[in-house]
Amino acid sequence: MSDTTEGADLGVEELTEAQARAELARLAQVLGTANTAYHTDDAPEISDAEYDALKARNAGIEARFPDLKRADSPSDQVGATPAEGFAKVRHSIRMLSLGNAFEDADITEFDTRIRRYLGLGEDAPLAYTSEPKIDGLSLSLRYEGGELVQAATRGDGEVGENVTANARTIADIPERLEDAPAVLEVRGEVYMSHEDFDALNARQAARGAKTFANPRNGAAGSLRQLDSTITAARPLRFFAYGWGEVSAPLSDTQMGAVERLASLGFSTNPLTRLCDGPAALLAHYAEIEQARATLGYDIDGVVYKVDDLALQARLGFRSTTPRWAIAHKFPAELAWTRLEAIDIQVGRTGALSPVARLTPVTVGGVVVSNATLHNEDYIAGRDSKGGVIRDGKDIRVGDWVQVYRAGDVIPKVADVDLSKRPEGAEVYVFPTTCPECGSEAVREEGDAVRRCMGGLVCPAQAVEKLKHFVSRAAFDIEGLGAKQVEQFYRDGWIAEPGDIFTLQERFGSGLQQLKNREGWGEKSANNLFDAIEEKRKIPFGRLLFALGIRHVGEQASNLIARNYGRWEEFTAAMDGAAGFEGPDWERLLGIDGVGEVLARSLVGAFAEDNERTSIDRLVKHLTVEAAAAPDTSGSPVAGKTVVFTGTLEKMTRAEAKARAEALGAKVSGSVSARTDLLVAGPGAGSKAKKATELGIETVDEDEWLALIGDA
Ligand code: IVH
Repeated sequence: MSDTTEGADLGVEELTEAQARAELARLAQVLGTANTAYHTDDAPEISDAEYDALKARNAGIEARFPDLKRADSPSDQVGATPAEGFAKVRHSIRMLSLGNAFEDADITEFDTRIRRYLGLGEDAPLAYTSEPKIDGLSLSLRYEGGELVQAATRGDGEVGENVTANARTIADIPERLEDAPAVLEVRGEVYMSHEDFDALNARQAARGAKTFANPRNGAAGSLRQLDSTITAARPLRFFAYGWGEVSAPLSDTQMGAVERLASLGFSTNPLTRLCDGPAALLAHYAEIEQARATLGYDIDGVVYKVDDLALQARLGFRSTTPRWAIAHKFPAELAWTRLEAIDIQVGRTGALSPVARLTPVTVGGVVVSNATLHNEDYIAGRDSKGGVIRDGKDIRVGDWVQVYRAGDVIPKVADVDLSKRPEGAEVYVFPTTCPECGSEAVREEGDAVRRCMGGLVCPAQAVEKLKHFVSRAAFDIEGLGAKQVEQFYRDGWIAEPGDIFTLQERFGSGLQQLKNREGWGEKSANNLFDAIEEKRKIPFGRLLFALGIRHVGEQASNLIARNYGRWEEFTAAMDGAAGFEGPDWERLLGIDGVGEVLARSLVGAFAEDNERTSIDRLVKHLTVEAAAAPDTSGSPVAGKTVVFTGTLEKMTRAEAKARAEALGAKVSGSVSARTDLLVAGPGAGSKAKKATELGIETVDEDEWLALIGDA
């Protein structure tokens, strides 16, 4: 103990090993506090010279006693200037999200769906684990040879941010594991307890620093600090509930795997239970809901997972969620307030969205002043099929309304109290022209939404499209965010995405103009041109997503990119599909994960003259990188078109299709000259006959399983 104080006064050369250890701990603490004061609070507590001297002393001690260097050593921390951002990490196995359920009936349906997929009878045993859904942020920890080598946030599920230095500061995260598989990725949730959150906010407020709206934001803000000494000063915790890449299985059940994680030294949730079916799951849900207020940390529901890992593997995934798990969410939080105004926002695809401007109110710990009103029917008290909602009560400006907030989703106006309606409140009339460009706003048959017909002529649509184009998951051009796009659009410098890539050419000399603008200097202007230059080379999937075509999200874009490989092949196929029929159209619809709505929207966009011209103008400036097909090297059926017919006895049709597609095969519903292989079970009829006529190879289920190595 006395070493701590004694050591501080001694020269580096005079320290004993024990004193050096204590001194390194003291320096980590002092420099940590200094960093926090400097970076987070903008209130340096020591001079730069003092800071540098302490850092040099720390480095000197480390040089003398290399073995004593701490995991959170100040030498490894980012110095006075924060780094540009976190390095990116590609997850070796994607980090997925969960499908949501709200009603009890959704849970019985979940069980039924799984049984159907697996071909299990109603009475066959099927166990699930049930555990709280922690309201934090997910983290993947990679251990190699038992050593923590990397920690990454989920990011978009495929690429996250490298937060290793920060994760090392979390006490619940072991630095080293005994008897772990050679490669082990542990996944779980970083969160902050209520007590720690309150204390942190009190500390922040006392220093005049920014406070956090809720523990989740506190946890996210603390983990995503470029300076890990700040994270170290924040009270973060971690629950492990899953895994990514493992060199040897942790167990053959979910429960066993979680127990194994606990025995390796991770915190696992003590409320995790094994349940034998939907009734037991619902009983456990009720138990957790009861306990919710006393847990001391935020949870937003309960997660159910199929316990048998072999069954999990058979069930696999939909595009972003596993088939073997579901989140049963708690009902949302509610509050009442005044509706001050209804504004209409025009989105990227022209949708007119009514937004409620509210007298600010706290809903579940978050101050809400805007909420969605969905569409005109919703305001009028009707659902999109003309049925009555809220007993037919309409919503008027001035009304006393109920606001509803579930987790991260946008708050909604749920109800209205007619007894508090001000006299003279008028029925809200939804605009039939676009408030931004005056074009007609049309509501098509069967569509709940009214849309501005102005297309790119509508400044709101054009700007929203541009904002989407430069957003993080799209072109992600550094220095060109929503604010800059709005400025450039207003100034007439860019009207469509392609214009971004001619900015420098058009304004090369106009650099002068740019740098004279508020917020721009020569350096930032040049940086912007460099950042744009860098994005001339873009992966196919990202480009497609960036175009902002309705219904074509990030996952779908990547899926389509992987399917067509090259941009040129894809655009030719879009031309071929323009009539919504023929082989190119069928091919698009045949992609697992592409439905008719998406396909129509996509093909429609490429067939629309203005839109297409704008896309082609853009692509002229780009090098589109081909998308790699999923790694099916070694798969005997990669690229083959397979048809299943008759009764399959060892797997269901859905499972067979998913498995074949995972191996790179295309699964088609009908036999044609393009079919490579027919898998025929008992009772196969006309398809088998046609295959024989066409001379197509036919195998039975066992031969198929042997072929793909699943026998
Ligand atoms: S399992 C493949 N278990 O909820 C599915 N997730 O809404 C992996 N979460 O991204 C997730 N508690 O960040 C799982 N006990 C729990 C969880 C949990 C919180 C988070 C996780 C996930 C999100 C999905």
